[in-house]
Amino acid sequence: MSAPSTVLVTGGAGFIGSHACVELLDHGYELIVVDDYSNSTPQALARVERIAGRFAGALYELDIRDRRSLSAVFDRHPVDAVMHFAAFKSVSASVRQPVEYYDANVGGTTALLRVMQEHEVHRLVYSSSCSVYGDAGPGALEESTPARPTNPYAASKWACEQLLADVCRRRPEYTVLCLRYFNPVGAHPSGLLGEDPRGTPDNLLPYVAQVAVGRRDRLRVFGTDYPTRDGTAIRDYIHVMDLVEAHRLALDHLTDAPGMTVYNLGVGKGSSVLDVIDAFSAACGTRIPYEIAPRRPGDVAELVADARAVARAWGWRPTRDLDTMCRDAWRFQRLNPHGYADSARRTQAD
Ligand code: UD1
Repeated sequence: MSAPSTVLVTGGAGFIGSHACVELLDHGYELIVVDDYSNSTPQALARVERIAGRFAGALYELDIRDRRSLSAVFDRHPVDAVMHFAAFKSVSASVRQPVEYYDANVGGTTALLRVMQEHEVHRLVYSSSCSVYGDAGPGALEESTPARPTNPYAASKWACEQLLADVCRRRPEYTVLCLRYFNPVGAHPSGLLGEDPRGTPDNLLPYVAQVAVGRRDRLRVFGTDYPTRDGTAIRDYIHVMDLVEAHRLALDHLTDAPGMTVYNLGVGKGSSVLDVIDAFSAACGTRIPYEIAPRRPGDVAELVADARAVARAWGWRPTRDLDTMCRDAWRFQRLNPHGYADSARRTQAD
């Protein structure tokens, strides 16, 4: 079986999806991109085109739960493999709106699988999350660590993993690579593409970046009483460019043995919230102001990957360190203080 050359990317305008599009276009893939822009913007795809110097084969604005429209896309294009990023990803929103989260994340994946099945597309790279491990630390977590999701977002990702495992058990023609991301951060080195959350950022790096650019007063550090070296929570931050390189390699490995394989994608090194503040302060040249706040409900003390399995299997190793992640995130924020809205404004002014 030959390696895929036309890839359908769901959620291609989002943070990770858009970086993946650049990586795949740079390596000669033809892309069919679908996105409903519920937490993203077409501007991101315009930037993808600018960086890659060419246009993704086709773009469709649709919600993947709309099976009729999704099916029409598969009717129109021969699809070799699917990269499935489209999902809601806020832990706190998932606690407030569990039904919406299950509906979007599990319902979206079931709809996609049904359409793939109808069109005999059997190769999938699935975007999962380290949050499935729940409060499993300390210590580097192997893929065999039992899943114990602690919030609806994580539970929805775990439900999709189980769904995919069941499909692979029943149908030997499927190959699914399920990638559990630790904390993806950073931005494309051009400064054109980065993370641009709607409203107040939930996640640490975009919040810090908005403080640095003057959009917010100060960061709140959620908890300094964790059993960690400086009392703040530890995460395994991974540069989005390293992450998408792993996705490109995944496409080559969709021709390996059928069935489902799960890999952690992390650096294998933990950084505390204070480490991130230090690295970002160095990157932007000013001290990031912060205050101490209580722990955020649902947060865990430490989540660090054991990513040796994917290194052994594919030879993939992340190369970018926390300083590079912060420098690249800062370049994007500095050049786009209001995110992609800046380019919309510039276009209106032209
Ligand atoms: C969570 C999920 C992860 C998901 C990601 C995307 C868990 C365990 N992890 O990551 O799977 O992919 O969201 O949304 O559920 N912090 C502050 N101040 C802030 C923001 C964050 O101190 O303003 C701290 C947090 O308490 C945490 C660390 O920074 O200790 C990282 O937080 P964040 O960037 O939100 O990611 P996770 O919660 O680790």
